[in-house]
Order: sequence, then structure tokens, then C-alpha cells
Amino acid sequence: MKKAFIALTISSSIMMASYTQEDRIKDMQIMAEAMQDIQNGFFFNNFDMIKAGGVILSDTIMRIEPPLEEKEEKDVMTRFMNNKVKMTNTTKKKIKKKTHKMIERFRDGDYTQALQNFTKITKECMKCHTQLRKW
Ligand code: HEC
Repeated sequence: MKKAFIALTISSSIMMASYTQEDRIKDMQIMAEAMQDIQNGFFFNNFDMIKAGGVILSDTIMRIEPPLEEKEEKDVMTRFMNNKVKMTNTTKKKIKKKTHKMIERFRDGDYTQALQNFTKITKECMKCHTQLRKW
């Protein structure tokens, strides 16, 4: 029993350590869907949709990180890559915070502020895409 638990702990921490590019693509798609659900929540004036989408979004954004191969990149690119890691962390925190604010504002009936938070989240998504991805 104890051994099985230890094995489980070890294997899950190995899994945590190797966040792959495929994982990130999958998480990005989950976030895109969550953003659509939230937007529909605004259109249908439905708090449950906004909350459900918001919870998925803020959980998923916390999983995002540069895949190992990007983190371990050395030579001339090192500084650029380090910035990438740092940027991921600040952006994650910002998106999480704004998502919680958006849910709270909508719950309190302040739709204008809630929508503004939604716009700010979208901007954070795009900021990362233009800077990291050159989209
Ligand atoms: C920290 C930077 C960062 C943030 C923040 C970010 N993205 Fe991304 N996104 C990426 C990168 C990097 C890729 C490319 C993934 C790859 O191909 O390896 C990507 C790709 C995507 C894709 C395309 C996935 C595919 O199928 O190819 C979607 C959709 C997407 N992001 C949605 C979002 C949404 C929605 C948000 C905001 C809630 C967001 N992203 C925030 C960095 C970010």
C-alpha cells in the first residue's frame, strides 16, 4: 500500500516535470473553449456559464508552462528563453486574477466591469501570442 503510494507520487511528479508541447496545445484548446463558454455566458446573461468557464480557465492557465525542451535550451537563446518562463508566470497570475474578478463582478451585477475583465483576459492571451509566437 505504502509502496504503491510512493510509486504514484514519483510517477506523478515525473509527469509534472515533463510538460510537453502537446500538453500545452491541448491546454490552449481547453482555454479557447472556456473563453467561448464565458462569452456565451455574457450573451445569455448566465452566471453559471461564466463561472464554469472561469473555473476551467483559471485552473488550466496555471498548468501552462514552457515545455522542457524550451526551458533547457542553452547557448545564445538562454536569455530569451528565461524571459519566456518569467513571462509565462506573470501572465498566468494576471489571467487568474482577472478571471476571479470577472466572476465576482458578474455575480454582483456589475456587467460592465465583468466584461472589461473578459476583454483584459483576451488581451493577455493575445499579448503572449504576439510576443512568444509572433502571431
Ligand atoms: C504564456 C503565453 C501564452 C498565454 C498567456 C496564452 N497562450 Fe495560447 N499559445 C501560446 C503558445 C506558445 C502557443 C503555441 C503552442 C504550440 O504550438 O506549441 C499557443 C497556442 C494557442 C492556441 C492554438 C492551439 C492549437 O491548436 O494549435 C490557442 C487556441 C490558444 N493558444 C488560445 C489561448 C487562449 C484562449 C489564451 C488566454 C486565455 C491563451 N492562449 C493564452 C502561448 C500562450
